[in-house]
Amino acid sequence: MRQIAFYGKGGIGKSTTGSNIAAALAEQGLSVMMIGCDPKADCTRNLTGEVQIPTILDISRDKGIERLGLEELVEGKKIEFADVIHRGYRGVYCAECGGPRPGFGCAGRGVTVAIDLLKRMNAFEKLKPDLVI
Ligand SMILES: Nc1ncnc2c1ncn2[C@@H]1O[C@H](COP(=O)(O)OP(=O)(O)OP(=O)(O)O)[C@@H](O)[C@H]1O
Ligand SMILES: [Mg+2]
Repeated sequence: MRQIAFYGKGGIGKSTTGSNIAAALAEQGLSVMMIGCDPKADCTRNLTGEVQIPTILDISRDKGIERLGLEELVEGKKIEFADVIHRGYRGVYCAECGGPRPGFGCAGRGVTVAIDLLKRMNAFEKLKPDLVI
């Protein structure tokens, strides 16, 4: 599984370039996963026909992560793939980390929690993407 990260200053085209590369490689037959790491949760919109997918952090909060903790959320099967991973253009697996509640926590920490959740769900082993953006 290869991993590519797009980062840099605001508005330079990270989401646009990332989603176009996801689309192009999916067209070539690769299995691609795109994980948006922006609290705006707009990184995968190009792949979902502008549909805003629910974010991992929002779903986790709805399912009680603050009360239960990450482990119980996953082990207790309170959260499933279908809640947080959506199929976009050419079957690209789309996920958005989302952000902390406004005024609480930091965006970077939120990304760590969201990716940790995907790892604990064995998302990468089960879906076996060739490439994660
Ligand atoms: N190669 C390009 N040529 C012209 N316009 C572009 C190009 N790439 C992106 N844009 C436009 O620039 C704007 C910012 O693009 P995008 O949202 O992808 O940037 P970003 O780096 O993800 O921004 P943010 O930091 O807010 O997440 C959008 O309006 C997009 O359509
Ligand atoms: Mg962006």
